[in-house]
Amino acid sequence: MEPFRFHVFVCDQEKPEGVPCCAARGSGQILEALRREVNARGLEDEVQVTVCGSLGLCEHGPNLIVYPEGIWYSGVTPADVPEIVRSHFQEDTPVERLARTDPAGLRAEILTNRQKMFAARRAREAAGVLPDDLNDRIRGFQESRAVLTGLELDLFTAVGDGAGAEEVAARLDTHPRATEMLLNALASLRLLVKRDGVFHNSPAAARYFTAGSRDNARPALLHTAHLWHRWSTLTDCVRAGTAVAHDEIAGRGQDWTEAFIAAMHRNASERAPLVVRAVGAENIRRMLDVGGGSGAYSIAFAQANSGLRADILDLPAVEPIARRHIQEAEMGDRVQVRGGDLRTGRLGEGYDLVFVSAICHMLSPEENLDLLRRCREALVPGGRVVIQDFILEADKTAPRFAALFALNMLVGTRGGSSYSEPEYSGWLGEAGFREIRRARLPGITGLMIGLRSR
Ligand SMILES: C[S@@+](CC[C@H](N)C(=O)[O-])C[C@H]1O[C@@H](n2cnc3c(N)ncnc32)[C@H](O)[C@@H]1O
Repeated sequence: MEPFRFHVFVCDQEKPEGVPCCAARGSGQILEALRREVNARGLEDEVQVTVCGSLGLCEHGPNLIVYPEGIWYSGVTPADVPEIVRSHFQEDTPVERLARTDPAGLRAEILTNRQKMFAARRAREAAGVLPDDLNDRIRGFQESRAVLTGLELDLFTAVGDGAGAEEVAARLDTHPRATEMLLNALASLRLLVKRDGVFHNSPAAARYFTAGSRDNARPALLHTAHLWHRWSTLTDCVRAGTAVAHDEIAGRGQDWTEAFIAAMHRNASERAPLVVRAVGAENIRRMLDVGGGSGAYSIAFAQANSGLRADILDLPAVEPIARRHIQEAEMGDRVQVRGGDLRTGRLGEGYDLVFVSAICHMLSPEENLDLLRRCREALVPGGRVVIQDFILEADKTAPRFAALFALNMLVGTRGGSSYSEPEYSGWLGEAGFREIRRARLPGITGLMIGLRSR
């Protein structure tokens, strides 16, 4: 059964460096050209394009198969794609000059390649060659660094609707040779597509990395670029037991703070509906959002309950950013910000909910116990503290995101880390909370909830 008039499988297999494969021979450009051409001719509901693994003809790639006829095309170039789409999909005439027409020869070639591949794999195994997945993990920083540099330079915006390397270099005021090297590397990562020497943004890069796009994530992603410098000190931090290049958030530049809060806001806006649903906004008259950042959570709670008033406590440098978000949400009458230090002093009183989101990980265990005691004092009897964070399983090796985030805190804070459910339960109990429970949320964060009973 084939529900589409045509179903095209395009091999996009990557193989180890130096081994022929469709990905290295440009299958990404074929895919891009195919999707563009199919859409341009209004055939998107007739022709299904599917990416697949090796078809066994790696030396002749890029390869694709068209069903229902089972026509194999080899050595396809982007220039061939319009002809395939027109002739094969619109005129029902396969392109003979590209099609393999000898099934027996094709089968023999594939079986021979398979034997070669097995033999090469056995030889690598016997020689003790580092497995590819291990190697990829070790060198993963190269890909990350190339993308971050692209973001730092705002290169994807400079590429715009298409530009050559010299043009991009002129727009960015960077070195032409080096800019071309970076552009080529980003094209190898499929964030750009190079056609006739002109670079174009991939659909994902255009959507998420360029100024003017509604979903531009660059301002938030610059926070990751800032973290890069911290992570370079990890070895020294492990020796020292704490951050070696420590600068408190208040001492960082406004650029850092803007990018940091933008990153927090992006996550928070996505997660706020989940949190509001899990906690419930009804029966809350007053909430305190400790280290509330952009205010995304307070705004979401206030939007869910028109009788709810929220106070955000954050550093003075963050106050104007939070005000901006509150104003945009037209919540100025019910959501307030106050500058202060969550590490010391009273947090206020009379709250039904104290929300502590993504705060505990930047504090030491002693600081968390102290903070939770002050949270309890700020609550009315029957009020709840809700902690949101990356919660580790008891042995602290999972989930992976939380285990790695512990290192993010090691390189960036004096005493922060990711913490486990037993640790949170212990502090909450010691701080005097009752009915302590964990609420699991979809995604990377979870909630720990405690009740002030009297
Ligand atoms: C990881 S962000 C979390 C923001 C927000 N709660 C969320 O979940 O999106 C940590 C927040 O704590 C604030 N912060 C850090 N140190 C603080 C301090 N000593 N006093 C008050 N706020 C602080 C930061 O400015 C930032 O907004």
